[in-house]
Amino acid sequence: MTERIVLLPGDGIGPEVTEQARLVLVAAGKQAGLEFEFEQELIGGVSIDQHGTPLRDEVIEICRGSRAILLGAVGGPKWDEMPVDVRPEKGLLAIRKALGLYANLRPAAVLPALVNASALRPEIVEGVDLLVVRELTGGIYFGEPRGREGEPPGPNGTRGTRRAVNAMVYEEYEIERITRVAFEQARLRRNHVTHVHKANVLEVSQLWVEVVDEVAKHYPDVELVHQLVDSCAMLLVQEPRRFDVIVTGNLFGDILSDEAAMITGSLGMLPSASLATGGFGLFEPVHGSAPDIAGKDVANPLAAIQSVAMLLETTFGSAGAEGVGAKAAAAAVRKAVGDVLDAGHRSADLLLPGESRETVGCKRMGELVLEALERG
Ligand code: IPM
Ligand code: MN
Repeated sequence: MTERIVLLPGDGIGPEVTEQARLVLVAAGKQAGLEFEFEQELIGGVSIDQHGTPLRDEVIEICRGSRAILLGAVGGPKWDEMPVDVRPEKGLLAIRKALGLYANLRPAAVLPALVNASALRPEIVEGVDLLVVRELTGGIYFGEPRGREGEPPGPNGTRGTRRAVNAMVYEEYEIERITRVAFEQARLRRNHVTHVHKANVLEVSQLWVEVVDEVAKHYPDVELVHQLVDSCAMLLVQEPRRFDVIVTGNLFGDILSDEAAMITGSLGMLPSASLATGGFGLFEPVHGSAPDIAGKDVANPLAAIQSVAMLLETTFGSAGAEGVGAKAAAAAVRKAVGDVLDAGHRSADLLLPGESRETVGCKRMGELVLEALERG
C-alpha cells in the first residue's frame, strides 16, 4: 500500500530543505517497507502570489486525505508589508487550526558532535535533552477580540488615535489536553514536567496552573514544577540540563522553543511535530524561511530531515510489525544525521562567528545523510 504524504515546501529555503527531507523519507521508508506517494501543494507567500491567499481550502482537503504533512517554511520580506490577514504566516496558522494540530512537540537535544557549536560553554550544554510541548491552536494567536482601529498622526501634527488588541484566551479543555500530551511524553523520557506560565500577572496563567495541577494528579510518577516564563528564559541559558519536558501556551512556547534551539547550536537542527487528536500530524523544521540564503544551496536540511524521523515514528510507528519497522527507520535517520556530523561535516549555520572551516551545502548534506543511511 502506498502512503500519501502532502508536501508543503512553502517559501525561502523551504523548498530546498523539504526536497532533501523527502529523499530521506523515501530511503528510510523503504527500509521499513513503506512506500510513499507525494502530493505537492502551495502554502504561504508562493500561494499568495498564485492564488491571492496563503492557504486554499482545497489544500486543507488534500491534507485531510493524507497520512501526514511535511512542511518547509513560510514568509519573506516580499510579503512583509501585507496586512496580517493575507500574510504567509496566516497560512501556517490556518492549517494548524483547520486540522486541529494543537500539540506542538519541539525536541531540543545537543548532539555530541555539536557541543562546541553552541554559543554557550560546552559544560553547560553537554547532555541537554529537552522537549517543548507548545499549545498551538489557542491563546493569543487566535484569541478574540483582535484587531486595529483609529487613525495615524495627521500631516499637520494632529495626534494619532491608533489602538490594537489581541487577547490571550484559553479554555479549560485546551489546557487539559496539551498537559496530558506533556505528561505522556514525560513518561517516555525522564518523568519531569515544567509548566511555564505568568501566573503572577495573568488570569489565563492562573487557570493553567490549576488545570495542570489537576491533570498532574493522574501522573503521580511524573514530577511537576511550575516556572514563571521570565525565570524559565533565564534558567534555560543558565542550567538547561534541568529541563525534561516543558509545557506551555502558544506564545511562550514560540519564544522559548527558539531559545532552546539555540542552546543546541543552531535553529537549523531542530525538528517539530504538530499533532491532532488521534495522532495525525504536520512535520516541519522549527526554523523559518531564511530568505537571505534562499536558493543558494547553503541552508541546513537537518531540521527538515529530523522532522522526517518524527514523521516516521509518529505516523507509522504505532503497534504491529509496520510500527516496529517505522520506529527503526526513524532511529536510522537520527543515527545517519549523527554519523554525518561526527564525520565533521557542517553546514554554514553550524559554525560559530569567526570560525573558519569548510562547509557543505544543502544538497550535499542531504546526500551525506542518504549515504550514511545506506551504510546503516
Ligand atoms: C513557528 C513560527 C510561527 C509561529 C510563525 C511563522 C507564524 O514562528 O512555527 O514557531 O509563530 O508559530
Ligand atoms: Mn517561532
